[in-house]
Amino acid sequence: MEKFMQLLREECEARWEEHSLTRSPDWAEFKSRLDGEFTRLAELLWDLYRDRPDFSYQLEGIIEDAFRAFEARPLELKERDRTFQPESGWFLSEKQLGAVAYVDRFAGNIKGLAKRLPYLKELGISYLHLMPFFLAPEKENDGGYAVSSYRETNPALGTMADLEAIARSFRKEGIALVADFVFNHTSDEHDWAQKAKAGNARYQDFYRVFTDPAETMVYQEHLRDIFPEHRKGSFTFNPQMKKWVWTTFNSFQWDLNYRNPEVFNAMAQEMISLANRGIAILRLDAVAFIWKEPGTTCENLPQAHTIIKAFQVMARLACPSLLFKSEAIVHPDDIEKYIDLRECQISYNPLLMAELWEASATKEVRLLALSLRKRHHLPAGCAWVNYVRCHDDIGWTFADEDAAELGIKGWDHRRFLNDFYMGEFPGSFSRGVGFQYNPETGDRRICGTAASLAGIEKALEEGTGAELDTAVRRLLLLYGIVFAAGGLPLIYLSDELAVLNRYAYREDPGQASDSRWVHRPLWSDRLYKLRRKSGTTSGRVFAALCALSEIRRSNPVFGVQSLTVADGGHPSILAFHKQHEGRLLTVVGNFSDRPIIPAPGTMCRLVAGKNPRELISGKLVLPEEDAELEPCALSWILSDT
Ligand code: GLC
Ligand code: GLC
Repeated sequence: MEKFMQLLREECEARWEEHSLTRSPDWAEFKSRLDGEFTRLAELLWDLYRDRPDFSYQLEGIIEDAFRAFEARPLELKERDRTFQPESGWFLSEKQLGAVAYVDRFAGNIKGLAKRLPYLKELGISYLHLMPFFLAPEKENDGGYAVSSYRETNPALGTMADLEAIARSFRKEGIALVADFVFNHTSDEHDWAQKAKAGNARYQDFYRVFTDPAETMVYQEHLRDIFPEHRKGSFTFNPQMKKWVWTTFNSFQWDLNYRNPEVFNAMAQEMISLANRGIAILRLDAVAFIWKEPGTTCENLPQAHTIIKAFQVMARLACPSLLFKSEAIVHPDDIEKYIDLRECQISYNPLLMAELWEASATKEVRLLALSLRKRHHLPAGCAWVNYVRCHDDIGWTFADEDAAELGIKGWDHRRFLNDFYMGEFPGSFSRGVGFQYNPETGDRRICGTAASLAGIEKALEEGTGAELDTAVRRLLLLYGIVFAAGGLPLIYLSDELAVLNRYAYREDPGQASDSRWVHRPLWSDRLYKLRRKSGTTSGRVFAALCALSEIRRSNPVFGVQSLTVADGGHPSILAFHKQHEGRLLTVVGNFSDRPIIPAPGTMCRLVAGKNPRELISGKLVLPEEDAELEPCALSWILSDT
């Protein structure tokens, strides 16, 4: 292999010489990185494309294009590359706090984001994920996840120049921009898809296209339906081509064909062009689905990892400060496999998210504690993106094996959780909406804003003051765990104002069939003004979240990634520790809606060290006291060791 790599390199070098890359003033810097990366890239691509007789030609072209993209990278970003590589670990710091929003729903358009800057600063945000802002089909576009061009914005939101300007000004304010890299599919209006429809064979090979439906059958029997309420099966007949196209999600989202190295290169170029606009982190959408093999579920295949790793090398060459965040809402064993300094440095933590809700419904923390013990640890230098909810549904993605260890039956438990969060289970506090019920499997997921799922909506309409108080605490408890668990916490903007479900989506024909719109709220000036008003739900949640953000920022112990779960002395109490340079943080959360006195001596056991003080209330703690924990109480206790 070594000899072969050397030959490949020589062949490539001869061509770069010929194409006068080597004479560019940028070559020396690029080459110093290429020296370290060439073999890795060549080996990764060899794994995928070894059958191609033109392999060396493809490789040469891919690297040449990476170089051209690097040449085009603005100086300011090249500067940033020198200090903010993934290995610098900047995103692990307690000073980092993320937020996510739709541009139009949060700020009208891209320029409008500038006027939201003071608001983001109030919350302490340092990372802003803008939901897909690309050109997309007008009618249906899956909330922007059907991209028609990665180089153009949706005209209603502004222009790419606006985006670059915002990226620049936010960067100066210490806010990194995050965008989606929707790389599993494009919309059927993308230029490549249009050419494919018109019969262009080269572009038909950009997608997974089949002439004979029998060919699709080989795959179909092993695939799951992602949106079963919309349609059955993963293939769509296109009458223009008279062929079948692979469409994992909606019929207008065409899956790209990564068996074709031209697709890899074309998408690598789209990726780098986003980085060159000033995007610091890419959210890799739907990572699980990018490679397909007959006879498999076509999810999480080894080649999917190879592709992402190869993209990562491309980033290292052309825009080395770019980070990858993986979006894999799959079995916990599979989520973990995407997380690596050389693959995705950060990853959504859907397990923690789902189990925070699970513990809130059951009032028992055993499954949550088990997962934190068993699955929270990550490779050094990588981080979870911890969140309470996002723009998508909540799926109960805990591992059935984990549940079985505790005597919990996965299927039954999911059914209970769905009933509970749809408000159908007796005693439920939640006002959620079901999503994508599949009568064949009984599978379902849940939608709803954090406030509505946590009980605020129900309490406001039909509850008592005490219930409202508990619901507010519950929301803060979940955010409090997310803020303390290490990694990057992410606020879904509007949660900080306790925004309730928006049922008006049912009146909008573009949204009515997708209940995820119930929890994608519109900016509200009224609630915004309430944020400083004590005595309102929005005011209370906003003030509390700002306080948590401030405490987190000021205490380096929150930047520690690992945690140690402790016995909370009661089935409803979650407790864990983090340690940093002579300080011990003890996090205690009561998931019950009743006051609880932990088993005698619990606090003494949990709160080791001197001078324990509760950071949120500012109170000194007397561990001997075994004080009662209020319903849904959260404590962050810091002591000196
Ligand atoms: C991801 C997105 C989701 C979208 C899907 C298809 O899961 O989060 O909103 O529907 O990918 O792109
Ligand atoms: C992805 C996830 C799935 C999620 C969907 C969007 O396919 O795997 O759990 O619900 O995107 O809704």
